[in-house]
Amino acid sequence: MRKLIIAANWKMNMGPQEAADFIDSFSQKVADAKGVDIVLSPPMVSLAAASSKLAGSSIGLSAQNVSENDNGAFTGETSTLMLKELFVQYVIIGHSERRSIYGETDAIINAKIKKARAANLKPIFCIGETLEQREGGQLEAVLRTQITDGLVGVSVEDLAETVIAYEPVWAIGTGVTASAQQAQDAHAFCRSVIAELYGQEAADKIRIQYGGSVKPANSAELLGQEDIDGALVGGASLDPQIFADLIHNALT
Ligand code: PGA
Repeated sequence: MRKLIIAANWKMNMGPQEAADFIDSFSQKVADAKGVDIVLSPPMVSLAAASSKLAGSSIGLSAQNVSENDNGAFTGETSTLMLKELFVQYVIIGHSERRSIYGETDAIINAKIKKARAANLKPIFCIGETLEQREGGQLEAVLRTQITDGLVGVSVEDLAETVIAYEPVWAIGTGVTASAQQAQDAHAFCRSVIAELYGQEAADKIRIQYGGSVKPANSAELLGQEDIDGALVGGASLDPQIFADLIHNALT
């Protein structure tokens, strides 16, 4: 059985003080949540504060991005070793906002995944189609390309430490969620692509999160689907009570 993984993606919200206050309140609210990996992804500038608050906690810490380079003249970038120094365990790679606003290609995303794994960070590898692509009948082709090109040269051992986040772009921050059936179908398809690339055992093991307007009211239905192994949550992760409710509902 795959263990659920529910991750907050705070995007460009929550400075160091807010992040620390959130963790104080949230940790108590989810102290009883068992059988689920919970991960918080603050912005870079808040990682240090979050890291000291989370010392000794079972709640995981993720960055929202990482450089594909080691060090040097890359203004504004953050390396894997800098993240490791702050005890970061996961990193979101290839979020649709990084793809669409900052021009990240499948090749860049692939380089970042490999760089993350070389530092033993666990990638949360995001994929997903636009509405235009879905309506144009390209859903499977888009997902297949993103998965295949994003994972070029990634070993089966490194895949085992990777989480995939399926996030239909049209459902992110819009309040429109994919139906449980639409999400399940996409997840089953992604798993079949992993089976083609890495074999059935790897496909059975990999965790695939759903992301896109997940909230307390729909987390149980979405995460109850056979191939949905967790959630990547934006808006509904910014309030400790709402995010805790979302997690508790998913576990019922
Ligand atoms: P949302 O964002 O939950 O606000 O739709 C999800 C994401 O972008 O990861």
